[in-house]
Amino acid sequence: MSSDEPDLPEHVRRNRTYWDEIAHEYVESAERNWAADEPTWGIWDIPESQAHLLPDDLQGKDVIELGCGTAYVSAWLARRGARVTGIDNSPAQLETARRMQDEHDLHFPLLLGNAEEVPLPDASFDLAISEYGAAIWADPYRWIPEAARLLRPGGELVFLGNGTILMLTVPELDVDGPADDRLLRPYFGMHRWEWPDSTNVEFHLGYGDWIRLLRDSGFEVVDLIELRPRNGATTRYTNLATPDWAQRWPSEEVWKARRR
Ligand SMILES: C[S@@+](CC[C@H](N)C(=O)[O-])C[C@H]1O[C@@H](n2cnc3c(N)ncnc32)[C@H](O)[C@@H]1O
Repeated sequence: MSSDEPDLPEHVRRNRTYWDEIAHEYVESAERNWAADEPTWGIWDIPESQAHLLPDDLQGKDVIELGCGTAYVSAWLARRGARVTGIDNSPAQLETARRMQDEHDLHFPLLLGNAEEVPLPDASFDLAISEYGAAIWADPYRWIPEAARLLRPGGELVFLGNGTILMLTVPELDVDGPADDRLLRPYFGMHRWEWPDSTNVEFHLGYGDWIRLLRDSGFEVVDLIELRPRNGATTRYTNLATPDWAQRWPSEEVWKARRR
């Protein structure tokens, strides 16, 4: 597949080009995270012992990571006994992932493709997970029903993305600095997100829309975890939020849902 493949939706083609261009900026975090024992999540590296994203027992579970990027989340889960598959839209990101697999001698299937249309059978997985993958880069009205299709009854969906208040308060990315305490854009109508002068396309929904979409797609909502960094936490994403901001408002949110 190439980024000018005509069958891919326009936002998927644009995001493939974008991620292929910036993949080199994610090599260092791939190396650090592949080498880490304990999972840490999101832009503040919040440890799993604090965030509690994962089910207690992953032994023998079939897991798909939707938008796996360099696949360090998949690596963490594979080391906990899960049978993982990663899918990602960027050949360059998957190239790093494959190099990490070789360096750590930890191999699992990695597919190049769109998380909105996964070439795998119905009811193949016990857990679908995304940390800033499909969670913000794929259209939720396509990838959430697709995750429901892929999961077995009782299967879990866990995804982490930017906090809703953050998306309403952060000025233009890479231009004006981090979020402040003023709402800059409307809440109603949140869905497709294009930053001025940027080629990529993101997706962010309001809370009611997430709940309705999850329920309409066959999920029960289990939890919405609003992540709060520990004191002293720092982030490379200084254009998004300061530590002080993230202590006061949720800069990141984790949805947990169960397939009916
Ligand atoms: C920020 S990375 C996520 C991986 C990792 N957890 C992280 O935080 O670095 C975002 C990934 O989403 C992938 N992506 C974007 N749109 C996608 C889609 N429609 N289907 C699958 N992957 C997608 C990109 O190629 C990129 O590798």
